[in-house]
Amino acid sequence: MTSETSEGLDLIKRLDRAEIPTHVAVIMDGNGRWATERGLPRFEGHRAGMKSVREVVEGAIEAGVGILTLFAFSQENWQRPAPEIAFLMELLKHYAKAELRDLVKNGVRVDVVGEIERLGRAERAAIDSIISATREGNKLQLILAISYSSRRELMQAAQRLAERVAAGELLPSEIDESAFQAELYTAPWPDPDLLIRTSGEYRISNFMLWQLAYTELYSTPVLWPDFRREHLFEAVLEYTKRERRFGRISAR
Ligand code: FPP
Repeated sequence: MTSETSEGLDLIKRLDRAEIPTHVAVIMDGNGRWATERGLPRFEGHRAGMKSVREVVEGAIEAGVGILTLFAFSQENWQRPAPEIAFLMELLKHYAKAELRDLVKNGVRVDVVGEIERLGRAERAAIDSIISATREGNKLQLILAISYSSRRELMQAAQRLAERVAAGELLPSEIDESAFQAELYTAPWPDPDLLIRTSGEYRISNFMLWQLAYTELYSTPVLWPDFRREHLFEAVLEYTKRERRFGRISAR
């Protein structure tokens, strides 16, 4: 651990538990640019990004974050060239196999949100096995957003509510925030407190549009393959300095 890293962690450890974000979400961006800057093919950026995934998972546990969501593959990403998609799918299967032991040892529970039906049989099997093998994890809930589109998630929620109304199970007037929230992929978890986007972009990119309503946004110029736990600690420390007002005039 570098001294910069341990300094950030020391600062975090001295904070009140209530100040640490319960749920941190990350839009991992900049893999392609990282590779291009080095004259490498884009997939090398994705490969290098796996180390950052490991770092951020371990860093989240060290910082006391309870839930970490990583945006690994969007519905829009299906439009990338076939070899790049194939490489990302291989990485996903590799992750599910290579990291399993450490995830279990570190008390990480994995879940996946997104349209998993669009994935191949082997990828779906890898996801099922990592979910069931990590079911007992109680230190960190890791949510991987794969084949995820927030608009589609919202549309599907609306369709299910409409079906329940048509079936006479629900009145239109009973569709309130909690009824809507209960139909989202993320129903079991609280909304993110902090969203980190790497590579200096300031976009939401169809990610958790409902869930991010009051989330603190943090953008860093660091490209995802260069992201290390100290960058997570910096983001967490910045979050603790923000005053969250949820539309009111003060937080309390
Ligand atoms: C964005 O960079 C990154 C992705 C589309 C893929 C992210 C995936 C990983 C880091 C590996 C898989 C992760 C898990 C948890 C299995 P980009 O390609 O859009 O970069 P660019 O904007 O520079 O082109």
